[in-house]
Amino acid sequence: MAARHFLKFSALQADEARRIVARAIELKTARPEHRPLLGRTLAMIFAKSSTRTRVSFEVGMSKLGGHALMLATAQTQLGREEPLSDTAKVLSRMCDAIMIRNDSQADQEELAHHSRVPVINGLSELHHPCQLLADVQTWFEHRGDPRGKVAVWVGDGNNVCNSWIEAAKLFGFTLRAATPHQYRPAAEVLKFAGKSVELIDDPAKAAAGADLVVTDTWTSMGREAERAERMQILAPFQVNRKLMSLAAKDAIFMHCLPAHREEEVTAEVIDGPQSVVFDEAENRLWAQMALLEFLLVP
Ligand code: CP
Ligand code: NVA
Repeated sequence: MAARHFLKFSALQADEARRIVARAIELKTARPEHRPLLGRTLAMIFAKSSTRTRVSFEVGMSKLGGHALMLATAQTQLGREEPLSDTAKVLSRMCDAIMIRNDSQADQEELAHHSRVPVINGLSELHHPCQLLADVQTWFEHRGDPRGKVAVWVGDGNNVCNSWIEAAKLFGFTLRAATPHQYRPAAEVLKFAGKSVELIDDPAKAAAGADLVVTDTWTSMGREAERAERMQILAPFQVNRKLMSLAAKDAIFMHCLPAHREEEVTAEVIDGPQSVVFDEAENRLWAQMALLEFLLVP
């Protein structure tokens, strides 16, 4: 049977996504002897920096009884132009799953095509699906089922924004995206989400009455050369106290981290009472453990 991959959030059916999130919450209280991945290995290919993704996958594998291998691209033969297809074939003969973080969704798809074992997207230029498992879990834990609610994305229509939009469709909430026209979310993602996503130019209008406000860095990894231009274009899209005051009274604030205080979000908001960013970061661990179980334990 072909391996099941997780390269974007929409690779899941709605009921599967709900099951994984529910399991993630349950795993927080699992007994330490729950070790379904005993003797199994996850290869983690990183072409870009990471704190949360690396640590959460490594700790998660270890908690489930398995092992994770850190493969920094530059230190592997991938960094010396060994084809991805050969790498996929070799890793799938020794490892039970592969996680990859790079700047090419197309390359991740190629890797998956040649892999006998599940391939997980740990971030690409287009998607960050593991982040959304943790984010939806966090929303459930703080405010219950997000079905019928409204989240507002303010800022760059980037990889994390695309995954939020796909999650909106699967979990039945509305995602209002307030982004400059230069940095809109991906067209294919907007098409997938249909009426679950609304593009609203004015961040104040988008934030009105929202249940959740979320943003991310204005300069994603790999876009550093555009930083000055982005700072200027995105300046009106900062999440600050004034913007938060337009959202629902009990609205929560999310950010996948790493954050840049006084750029996309003020310190007052990210370090304030509505912020749940550290629960969100911790949930990367539980959500990915649930994902690994879903992909690897029949
Ligand atoms: N949110 C996130 O993916 O963080 P890292 O870049 O630290 O992995
Ligand atoms: N959008 C950011 C997310 C980092 C976790 C980036 O791609 O750098």
